[in-house]
Amino acid sequence: MKDIRRTLVSRLLNNADEYIGREVDVKGWVRSRRGNKYVQFVALNDGSTVKSLQIVFDLTKFSDEELKAVTTGSSIHVQGLLVESAGKGQNVEIQADSLEVYGTASGEDYPLQKKGHSLEFLREIAHLRPRTNTFASVLRIRHALAYAIHKFFNDKGFYYFHTPLITASDCEGAGAQFQVTCLDVNEPPRDEEGKVDYSQDFFGKMASLTVSGQLEGELGATALGCIYTFGPTFRAENSNTPRHLSEFWMIEPEMAFYEIADNMDLAEEFIKYCIKYALEHCKDDIEFLAEHFDKELPERLRFVIDNDFVRLPYTEGIKILEQSGKKFEFPVYWGVDLASEHERYLVEEHFKKPVILTDYPKEIKAFYMKLNDDGKTVRAMDVLFPKIGEIIGGSQREENYDKLLARINELGLEGMDWYLDTRRFGTVPHSGFGLGFERLVLFVTGMQNIRDVIPFPRYPKNCEY
Ligand code: 4AD
Ligand code: MG
Repeated sequence: MKDIRRTLVSRLLNNADEYIGREVDVKGWVRSRRGNKYVQFVALNDGSTVKSLQIVFDLTKFSDEELKAVTTGSSIHVQGLLVESAGKGQNVEIQADSLEVYGTASGEDYPLQKKGHSLEFLREIAHLRPRTNTFASVLRIRHALAYAIHKFFNDKGFYYFHTPLITASDCEGAGAQFQVTCLDVNEPPRDEEGKVDYSQDFFGKMASLTVSGQLEGELGATALGCIYTFGPTFRAENSNTPRHLSEFWMIEPEMAFYEIADNMDLAEEFIKYCIKYALEHCKDDIEFLAEHFDKELPERLRFVIDNDFVRLPYTEGIKILEQSGKKFEFPVYWGVDLASEHERYLVEEHFKKPVILTDYPKEIKAFYMKLNDDGKTVRAMDVLFPKIGEIIGGSQREENYDKLLARINELGLEGMDWYLDTRRFGTVPHSGFGLGFERLVLFVTGMQNIRDVIPFPRYPKNCEY
């Protein structure tokens, strides 16, 4: 494949032998310029790698005047000879023959002048932060993980199934949906009882942004066998934490004929595959992030790949927490929805490994999960990770029509006939799970805040760009 009228810096650096002694074209953004009155050195970055390419400007060929526009942030096109570098810090460099400046970034107002801005500051200028080494590394890793996910499922014979973003159903039943309406919010039409009359709204009923594609995914799986979704999901929960976004991407595989154990096997294989893929394909970026933010990152990633995840029923987990002798902020008892501190105790302090917690009390889980014989717990599985807490949530689904209908009625859910049809006609045991994409990116990059692993984060009171 040919790069269009430029050679990528990554290609020049990784295949230097092929290009040394040849005239090449590079285009990119200037990271820095230094030098003396004989020679000037420019570090050029084109986004293809965290490494910059050194360009040498001989001042007998270029005037000071010509180079004046070449400041941090400016965009340039350079033609020149790729040669071995005598200097420290790089193997090759370009001896410039011609220079074209596309756009200047002169003056003090370019916000990315000096190195080492805080991540908090960069969040305020999220429209420019992809130009920093840190964010470019995170975004390249994010891309590689997205590709790995499609590859993993495609190679296994799963079909990429597109579920709607606008929906009239509430999958998780948590009441955390963003409403979609074209009614005049100041003066909505009302029915006789004075309630908002959604029959006059765009879809003729109340609609929302999806919190999960699972229910529709089940329709796919009970026809195609194995499917996965990979798309944005939206949650209007007021969670201001380093692990929650209002708009995040989720991967939801759904498999006919899978029982809970098969589901766990798949989840473990899948996560390990993605991490391994990133380690193999994003070496420079992971090294960069490790060096600047998190020295233990590569070791932590390898540790997850090399070790079996612990599989533990919720009831056992509660016993361990109760017997830990540790003072938690939130009390522990059977029936409680575990808080992040509990999950992290099990993973980071007790087992020191990822844990798959299973068989949760039915009251704290969604309506569609398969009831166990004890009548109290459901075949849920949450995968808990060091530093992250819950990275995957999933379950075996209730495939029995009567039991599912009873649960739907118990919870007073309406408009579920289309969903119940999967159990009326040719029902099968089936399972699935949801992986929060940003939580995976968070783990693989070693970043601390989920707002730093998506280009344009959405969270309460923030909707820039
Ligand atoms: O556990 P959750 O709510 O499960 C579901 O939505 C199921 N329908 C999935 C399924 O079985 N197909 O969400 C799944 C995952 C969580 O484990 C977490 O990684 C991520 O989605 N997640 C979030 N990520 C970022 N911000 C939020 N607000 C998130 N809420 C959930
Ligand atoms: Mg969950």
